[in-house]
Amino acid sequence: MEKDDLILFKKWFSDYCKSFYSSDIEDQKNISLKEHHTDRVRENIVEISRRLSLDGHKTMLAEAVALFHDIGRFPQYAQYKTFRDSVSVNHGLLGAQILLKEGILHALPENDRGLIIEAVKFHNAFSIPKKANNTVAFFIKLIRDADKLDIWRVFIEYYESSDKNMARAITLELPDIPEYSKDILSYFSQKRVVSHSQLKTVNDFKILQLSWLYDLNFTPSFQLFSDRDYLSRMMAQLPQTEEIQEITRSLENFVNQRLKND
Ligand SMILES: [Fe+2]
Repeated sequence: MEKDDLILFKKWFSDYCKSFYSSDIEDQKNISLKEHHTDRVRENIVEISRRLSLDGHKTMLAEAVALFHDIGRFPQYAQYKTFRDSVSVNHGLLGAQILLKEGILHALPENDRGLIIEAVKFHNAFSIPKKANNTVAFFIKLIRDADKLDIWRVFIEYYESSDKNMARAITLELPDIPEYSKDILSYFSQKRVVSHSQLKTVNDFKILQLSWLYDLNFTPSFQLFSDRDYLSRMMAQLPQTEEIQEITRSLENFVNQRLKND
């Protein structure tokens, strides 16, 4: 893959997004949200790559993965008006199918093409597929980190904003009530990511998003998480019970531990 390929891909992506623009205000907010998210995920992946001292070719591949990782979101929203994969389609798989169908990567060497398609396909899987080879697994880890870092930003901005008319599809239509489900707290003692099937309220979703820390792969990702103060900003959006404070402390320890691994 060459620099010119990446330039062409960016132009393709920009045109692709425009083809989904809508005159409906709510729909347009949701489409813009994903277009903007893609830009930030690209920035994150380039920054993580820089901190990992990846070479130019690997950094370009990583940027292409970030550019395409959510292309499935656009037709998903157009058809189902939701970002919930469980009630519509798997947007990673759909993204990989679009890349193949549109032939957008046809000019790339087979290795590069396969790697981008696999990373897009599995960026949202619950865990990294065991059958993925080391190189593919590495790029899947990169995109999962860069993606999570921006999803935290999107949610924190949403929760901190007084404008609750922001793109509503992001809270998965869950009820925004003060309660959270006690059962999901046990995931933290086992350092496990909370499963989506456990979600009952928006607070549960916030707690689930905090458990993503257990699935963050690279030290630079922990650095960016910490620099941006995401932990305390997320915690500030939850009821300040003893249980939640305990989770805060254990997550702080976990992050500090991972930062020391550098
Ligand atoms: Fe995604």
